[in-house]
Amino acid sequence: MGKVVEIKHPLIDHKMAIIRNKLTDTKTFRENVNEIGSLVTYEITRDLLTRPIEVETPIAKTICYTLAKEVVIVPILRAGLGMVDGIHNVIPTAKIGHVGLYRDEETLEPKQYYAKFPDIMVEATVLIVDPMLATGGSAIAAINLVKNRGAKDIRFVGLVGCPEGIKALQKAHPDVDIYLAVIDDHLNKVGYIVPGLGDAGDRLFGTK
Ligand code: PRP
Ligand code: URA
Repeated sequence: MGKVVEIKHPLIDHKMAIIRNKLTDTKTFRENVNEIGSLVTYEITRDLLTRPIEVETPIAKTICYTLAKEVVIVPILRAGLGMVDGIHNVIPTAKIGHVGLYRDEETLEPKQYYAKFPDIMVEATVLIVDPMLATGGSAIAAINLVKNRGAKDIRFVGLVGCPEGIKALQKAHPDVDIYLAVIDDHLNKVGYIVPGLGDAGDRLFGTK
């Protein structure tokens, strides 16, 4: 079974307090989501493999270490886009794929409207990015898509999860590690995480 990591850090706590607050404006919300994206990336990438290379400094030759594999960031549209710049700032060599999904408001089932990936999925470390892991349906569908493209080394990266979503994702994809800034209490009857932060896409893009 993959790991479930709730990333503990005072700066993440501080920024979560800002984005959970219903009075936070769109600009501040977006900035803080991106900043948390950068902070969680340190934890997500802690065990990435490196390979030695010889580098000549102005003083002497030495052995340095570079990433052994390429990284592909795959945001789930729309809300996943809110974390991409923050992650990309920390891993600027990463390529970016996109998966477009929205939840049907009645059934909560994810509906796909877009998918585009770089052609290095088989050998890359793939980060599936979405701030919210609610029923888990969107994450499961996005991971199905990248697996169909041959991806093998996959990590889910979110801000707010809940036990229901974690359980569903682990059941569907037991090989995928799950990284979350916080694990909340539960999912309510209409599919929102409690206490959560509301609709992440709407809050990022000012659509409600
Ligand atoms: C939200 C969120 C996730 C999904 C999570 O997207 O950004 O993608 O719901 O819910 P789930 O775990 O139950 O699938 P939404 O469908 O609202 O689309 P949006 O990002 O375009 O607003
Ligand atoms: N999607 C969101 O944006 N928020 C939730 O709480 C659940 C799903």
